[in-house]
Amino acid sequence: NDNLLKKIIAHAKEYGFIFPSSEIYDGLSATYDYGQNGVELKNNIKNYWWKSMVQMHENIVGIDAAIFMHPTTWKASGHVDAFNDPLIDNRDSKKRYRADVLIEDHIAKIENKIKKEVEKAAKRFGDQFDKEQFLSTNPRVLQNQEKIDQINQRLKTATEQNDLEGIKKIIEDLEIADPVSGSKNWTEVRQFNLMFSTELGSLAEDANKIYLRPETAQGIFVNFLNVQKTGRMKIPFGIAQIGKAFRNEIIARQFIFRMREFEQMEMQFFVKPGEEMKWYEYWKEARMKWHKALGMEDDRYRFHDHLNLAHYANAACDIEFNFPMGFKELEGIHSRTDFDLKAHEEYSGKKLQFFDPQENKSYVPYVIETSIGLDRMFLALLSRAYTEETLEDGSERVVLRIPPMLAPNKVAILPLVNKDGLPEKAREILDCLKYDFNCQHDTKDAIGRRYRRQDAIGTPICVTVDHQTLEDNTVTLRYRDSMKQDRVSIETALKDKINKEVS
Ligand code: GAP
Repeated sequence: NDNLLKKIIAHAKEYGFIFPSSEIYDGLSATYDYGQNGVELKNNIKNYWWKSMVQMHENIVGIDAAIFMHPTTWKASGHVDAFNDPLIDNRDSKKRYRADVLIEDHIAKIENKIKKEVEKAAKRFGDQFDKEQFLSTNPRVLQNQEKIDQINQRLKTATEQNDLEGIKKIIEDLEIADPVSGSKNWTEVRQFNLMFSTELGSLAEDANKIYLRPETAQGIFVNFLNVQKTGRMKIPFGIAQIGKAFRNEIIARQFIFRMREFEQMEMQFFVKPGEEMKWYEYWKEARMKWHKALGMEDDRYRFHDHLNLAHYANAACDIEFNFPMGFKELEGIHSRTDFDLKAHEEYSGKKLQFFDPQENKSYVPYVIETSIGLDRMFLALLSRAYTEETLEDGSERVVLRIPPMLAPNKVAILPLVNKDGLPEKAREILDCLKYDFNCQHDTKDAIGRRYRRQDAIGTPICVTVDHQTLEDNTVTLRYRDSMKQDRVSIETALKDKINKEVS
């Protein structure tokens, strides 16, 4: 819900996770900066993904390709000609919209009406209420559902046939108004390419136009043979990459869910033609397992199989996550056939084939791709982690229940009071832990407030140093989620206890 998303945005800013980009100039839309805690969480997500891909699979290796690529790359991949969104302008407000999103928003309004009907009826009938039966019999609901199905069908057909006039006609027929001005004075719908371009060197000729990559995948495809040969890789094998991608998104909204500059974690898995469906199923399951292993509730995830396939794919699905805005795409798994490698062969005139010693022949491999947005993963974690709690004594706390192994800081070392040699002892402990763990050291304010600050940034363990510590070299461990406390010896138990909690 909107309220929760707003709270998360405010919390992320207040506690140094995410700031609007160039905020002193009022920000730049759909662009964000990661702060001191955000960058740690982001790096931990990257490492977790990289380890599970590259370190855990002997047949997957990584690369780090340049953001700039030869412009022909994007001709071959289809992005120059087909990476478009249908846009429409309102003549009165001069605002620009994605035409398909205007229609989807209209559908969402009708869905909302249905939801309201259900809520009303649920209140009226109480325990007797049977939602399924209500949805399948109530005339107003049925009428609205039929409307939704019709609009969806029209939008799908118009999109598939690239029928821009058809899309405009839907907007006119539904009498969709500009959400800003209320005016229905629309321009034609036209295609708008999502790639950012710039010029290479000093000549402003078209030949020097280059693009910021809109996906990291093409850096992997053009290096397929380099990696296969130098790494002596045998099919099946994979190439993984983490890096920035850029898209001139027209509706960029919902915080870091859709940005103009974002990061992807992609892996292309090269397989023998004919074996792609087996590997597609394998990666579908493997990726879902990866998500669920983080210990967030399983019912926060679901598959969404694509029925409308892109021209290069023979199977595709999303892993969706239940964000505060509802279920939305977090990761895509695509069976991309040999489309990309074949296209690069054609445009470059170079062979991009694998010699299979068992088959005694060369072929262009098929590709299964897993592609996840790092920033979306970040938002998924944050929205799952953000918890408001009322404690037994009636006080409130906000705690980020981030999986401990991904938490930005693992330990906070807190002297109970800022005197009597306790701060010095705390620093001594910090100096011994900082080689293994990202630590915080905080001496300001009462201990309760310091615990709250650590809860708010998701630190799994607080180590409290008190007067007894100076006598027997023990400290109190205080756990973020349970708030339980535990007394342990610094020398014999501290590191082990922390390790157990955060790895
Ligand atoms: N190479 C395939 C590819 O790029 P995609 O579905 O366009 O496929 C993959 O993008 C993932 O990248 C998405 O599932 C999403 O997590 C992330 N992503 C795409 N566009 C994004 C944006 N504007 N902002 C943040 N993340 C985005």
